[in-house]
Amino acid sequence: MRYGHFDDSAREYVITTPHTPYPWINYLGSEDFFSLLSHQAGGYSFYRDAKLRRLTRYRYNNIPADVGGRYLFVNDGGDVWTPSWLPVKADLSFFEARHGLGYSAITGERGGLRVTTAFFVPLGENAEIQKITFTNTSDAPKSVSAFTYVEFCLWNAEDDQTNYQRNLSIGEVEVETATPSGGAAVYHRTEYRERRDHYAVHGVNVPAAGFDTDRDTFIGRYNTLAEAAVPRAGRAADSVASGWYPIGSHQLDVTLQPGESKDVVVVLGYVENPDEEKWADEAKQVVNKTRAHELLSRWATPEQADAGIEALKAYWTELLGAYTVTSGDEKLDRMVNVWNQYQCMVTFNMSRSASYFETGMGRGMGFRDSSQDLLGFVHLVPERARERIIDIASTQFPDGSAYHQYQPLTKRGNHNLGSGFNDDPMWLVGGVAAYLKETGDWGILDEPVPYDNEPGTEVPLFEHLTRSVDHVLTHLGPHGLPLIGRADWNDCLNLNCFSTTPGESFQTTGNKTGGVAESTFIGAQFVLYGKEYVELAKRRGDDAEVARVSKAVEGMTQAMLTHGWDGEWFLRAYDYYGHPIGTNAHDEGKIWIEPQGFAVMAGIGVESTDPTTPQWKASPAGKALTAVEDMLGTEHGMVLQYPAYITYRVHPGEVSTYPPGYKENGGIFCHNNPWVIIGETVVGDGAAAFDHYKRITPAYREDISDVHQLEPYVYAQMIAGKEASRHGQAKNSWLTGTAAWNFVAVSQYLLGVRPDFDGLVVDPQIGPDVREFTVTRVARGATYEITVRNSGRPGSRATLTVDGRPLEGRTVPYAPAGTTVRVHAVL
Ligand code: GLC
Ligand code: GLC
Repeated sequence: MRYGHFDDSAREYVITTPHTPYPWINYLGSEDFFSLLSHQAGGYSFYRDAKLRRLTRYRYNNIPADVGGRYLFVNDGGDVWTPSWLPVKADLSFFEARHGLGYSAITGERGGLRVTTAFFVPLGENAEIQKITFTNTSDAPKSVSAFTYVEFCLWNAEDDQTNYQRNLSIGEVEVETATPSGGAAVYHRTEYRERRDHYAVHGVNVPAAGFDTDRDTFIGRYNTLAEAAVPRAGRAADSVASGWYPIGSHQLDVTLQPGESKDVVVVLGYVENPDEEKWADEAKQVVNKTRAHELLSRWATPEQADAGIEALKAYWTELLGAYTVTSGDEKLDRMVNVWNQYQCMVTFNMSRSASYFETGMGRGMGFRDSSQDLLGFVHLVPERARERIIDIASTQFPDGSAYHQYQPLTKRGNHNLGSGFNDDPMWLVGGVAAYLKETGDWGILDEPVPYDNEPGTEVPLFEHLTRSVDHVLTHLGPHGLPLIGRADWNDCLNLNCFSTTPGESFQTTGNKTGGVAESTFIGAQFVLYGKEYVELAKRRGDDAEVARVSKAVEGMTQAMLTHGWDGEWFLRAYDYYGHPIGTNAHDEGKIWIEPQGFAVMAGIGVESTDPTTPQWKASPAGKALTAVEDMLGTEHGMVLQYPAYITYRVHPGEVSTYPPGYKENGGIFCHNNPWVIIGETVVGDGAAAFDHYKRITPAYREDISDVHQLEPYVYAQMIAGKEASRHGQAKNSWLTGTAAWNFVAVSQYLLGVRPDFDGLVVDPQIGPDVREFTVTRVARGATYEITVRNSGRPGSRATLTVDGRPLEGRTVPYAPAGTTVRVHAVL
C-alpha cells in the first residue's frame, strides 16, 4: 500500500493523505539555516546547531506525534481548520504534501477554500519563507481570518526543555505592527539584553489585523493546539508575552471573490547584530532591527518568493547534473538521479544531529559518520567537502585517535564521549581518498591542520593520515588484528565494557583494561584504506612509506585469512578474553555482516570474479558471500547478525541489549548492506548485488509503505529483522551512513562509474535486469557520456571504447575541463 507517489519530472514526492504511518519529513536549507518539516507542517528550525541555536520548539515523544510546527489556523465563518490537517484535524476535501529538493508545499481544502503553503529556506538566507496562497473554490465571495503560529524556543534546546525555573521568566518579545516593507513582525529577543547578539523574527508581508505573542492567551489555558482560543474567537488578542511561552502569530484577514487567489509571504528569520550595532535605542533597550527589515524587504512579495524557489530548483538541477542515469528502470533512476543524492546532502549537513529520531540535542558531528558521509557528497560540492575534511582532521589527537564527535557550532571535540573508537582514524583516510579521486586537489595533503584544534600544533594533512595508519599499527592484538577500543563501526560491540548497572554508557564506561579484544572489521578497513593510503604515498614519491604500509596491508590480509576466518565466513572479533565472536561454534551471533562485506570489498580472499566457477565458490570471498545470503538474507534486506542474542550477555556489550531483530541485534542495518553489495560486484556477481540493492532501497519498497512505514524516498538506518515481531518495519530515516554508502554502491559499482586517482573507471556490474543504460558524469569539469550494453552474464566485464577508439583497461583518463568524452562500454 502507498500513501502517495513520485512526481519524477518535478523531483517531488507527493503525499496524498495526512494519514501516513509516521510523519514523513523534508529538510529545508543547505547552508546555515535549517528546518525540519513534516507533511503536516510539524518540525522546527535552527541556525547551524540544532542544540545550541534553536529557533522554534518541538516536543519529541508528544501525543499525538508531530504536534508542534508552523501552523496556519483558518477561521471561515466560525469553521476553524488547519490546511496541514494537524493540529485541528478537521476533515479536508483535498490534501496534498509535496516534498521537493529544499522546499515543500502543503495544500488543504475545506468548505470551498484551498490553502497552499510553499515552505523553503532560500539560498544565502537565514530564514524559512512561506508563500501562502488562498483560493476561493466556491461560487460565493468569502471573508476569512487566518492566524499564523510559531512557538519560539529559548535558543539552547536542551536548557529549554529542562530549566523551567529560569526559563519561564525570561521570555521577551517586541512587536512591530507596521514594518518598513508594509507588513508586521514579531521579534523573539529572549536573552538579547544579556549575552546574545541574535534574535528571531516572524514577519508577514501584508498589514495584519492583529498579533499574539503569548502562548497561553493564544491557545487558552488547558486547551490543546487543536482548540486554540484565538482562532476560535476569530480575533487576535494583541497579547505581549512576558516570560512564560513566547510565540509569534499574525492575524490575516482575507477577502476573496469566487475563483480568486491571494498570496501572503511569511518569514521566520534569524538575525545577528554586531555588538556595537545591537540597539536601536539602548536606554530603552529597543533591538536594532535594520537587518531584519532588510530580510523582510527581500521577501516582501510573492514574486520574490517564487524567484527564491526557482533559484533553489536551478541550484539542484546544477548539482544533480554531476551524475545522472537513464536506465529504463524508473525506480533506479529516481533514486540515483534525485533522492539518494539529496539524502547525501542532508546527511552531510546534519551528520546524525537532527531528525524525527534524533533530537538535535544528543549527537553533534561524528568523526566516523561525517567521514563516511563525504563518500556520497564529495561530487556535489567538493569545496564544502574540503572544509569538512579539515574540520574533522582538526579533532584528531597526535597519536592518531580522534574525538568521536564534535559540535558544529564550535567545531570542538566533544569531551563527554572522548575518543577510543578504534575504527575512527582510518575513516579519515577513506574520506580524503574519495575527495582526491573526485577533485585531484593534491594540495590538500599539505594543508596545515592542528591536533585537537590546538593552535601551534599544525602539521600537513598527510601527516594526520600517517598517524591514522600508525594508530592501527600500534594497537594490534595477539592475532595481529586491530584492537577494538570502545567499539568499532558497530557502536554496540563493546568488548571492553562489562556493564551490569542500568543506565551506564556502554561506550564510555571502559571498565576493563588490558584486554585483547580485536576487530576483524577494523582489519578489513585497514586493508581497504591502507591501500588507498599507499596510493597517496606513491604519488607523493614517498617510497619508504609505500613499502612500509604495503607490507602492513599484506600482513593484515594474512591475519584476516588465518586468524580472522571461521571456516565458512570471517569472524567478527575476539573478545576481552581472546575468544572468537561470530563463529559457527556459537548458538547466537554466529555470523556478522560487517567483516564479510568489508573484507570482500577490500579484496581479501578474492580468488575469482566468475561466480559460476568452483574456484569462486571455494574462495573465502565466495564462501563468505554465500553464507551472508543464506544466513543473513531476508526479503527486506540482510540482517546485521544472526541468530540474534535472546538474553543480555555482558561480554559483547550493548548489542545484546536490543530485543532480537532490532538495531545492531539482528536488525537490517541498512548501512552495511551496501558493503556486501559492493563486495558482490567486486567478485563479479552483479545479479546478487542488484537484488540486494532493491531489497532495502526505498523506491522499491514504496508499494509496501504500510509495512515499511517510513518515507519511501529516503533510506532508513534500520529495518526490523527476521527475528523481530515487526519484520520489515523501518526506523530512523534520513540521518544514516546508508545514504552515502548506497550512493557509492549504486553509482560507482552497480552502474560502475567511479572516479579514481587518474581517471574515471567504467566497470558496471548490475546483472541481467538492466541491459542498457547511459550515465552522464561530470568529473573535474569534463563531461563523460557513457553508454553501456550489458549482457548480464555472470563474471562478464566491460570492454570500452573512448571517442571511438578502443581503450586498454577500464580507466578513462581524465579529460580537460570543458570537454565531452564519449564512452561506450560492452559486457
Ligand atoms: C549509527 C552510528 C554509526 C554507527 C552505527 C552502527 O548509525 O551513527 O556511527 O557506526 O550506528 O552502530
Ligand atoms: C549509536 C548508534 C546506534 C546504537 C547506539 C548505541 O548512537 O546510532 O545504532 O544503537 O549508538 O548507543
